[in-house]
Amino acid sequence: MRESRLILALDVYDREKALEIAERTADYLWAIKVNWPLITGSGLKIITELKQVTGLPIIADLKLADIPNTNRMIASKVFEAGADYIIVHGFVGRDSVEAVMGLGKTIIVVEMSHPGAKEFIQPVVDKLIELANELKPFGVIAPATRPERVSYIRSKLQEGIKILTPGVGAQGGKAKNAVKAGADYVIVGRFIYGSDTPREAARGLYEEISEVV
Ligand code: XMP
Repeated sequence: MRESRLILALDVYDREKALEIAERTADYLWAIKVNWPLITGSGLKIITELKQVTGLPIIADLKLADIPNTNRMIASKVFEAGADYIIVHGFVGRDSVEAVMGLGKTIIVVEMSHPGAKEFIQPVVDKLIELANELKPFGVIAPATRPERVSYIRSKLQEGIKILTPGVGAQGGKAKNAVKAGADYVIVGRFIYGSDTPREAARGLYEEISEVV
């Protein structure tokens, strides 16, 4: 089986439900992304449990956007809990991002997938790409809802920095279009965990992506 490029955004509150969906879908995933809904609902220890149950990398999507000291304090606890990657905002500045990068693998938000991203983030995308090229994080976040923006970001981003794209399914983006535009990984939440058959939903996306890589 080809290595997966699919990341499950596990945005549920409940620990048992999260573990069950994770176990059912793990065969088709590269990683699991946890966000505030799951962390506030089940506590940080869910990161450790998800790793134990699935053996997959865990991405903590905290979208950290604070001063360096606070970013560092939060990130150190989250890496300690077993997170392999943390997502941070770049717009707060180089020092805040570097505070997290000093502790572990980091992913910088370059452009968001929702309509409101056009208001404040899109106008500064070039500067955020520049920051990523200088700091060389593991990856950046770009919007699967706008494949032309993924292509643009790919064209400006240094080789080796991965592009992870949320926005597939519930937000209207298509996995294969994001990958064709240059995404390395596709992040999907509601389309999988909201399905009556999450394993089948994950398998379908895995196969769709496999057709174009
Ligand atoms: P859905 O249910 O829409 O979930 O498939 C998407 C997941 O990804 C997160 N998300 C983003 N994270 N930049 C990010 O860093 C974005 O532009 C973005 N858009 C969605 C979202 O919070 C959810 O966990």
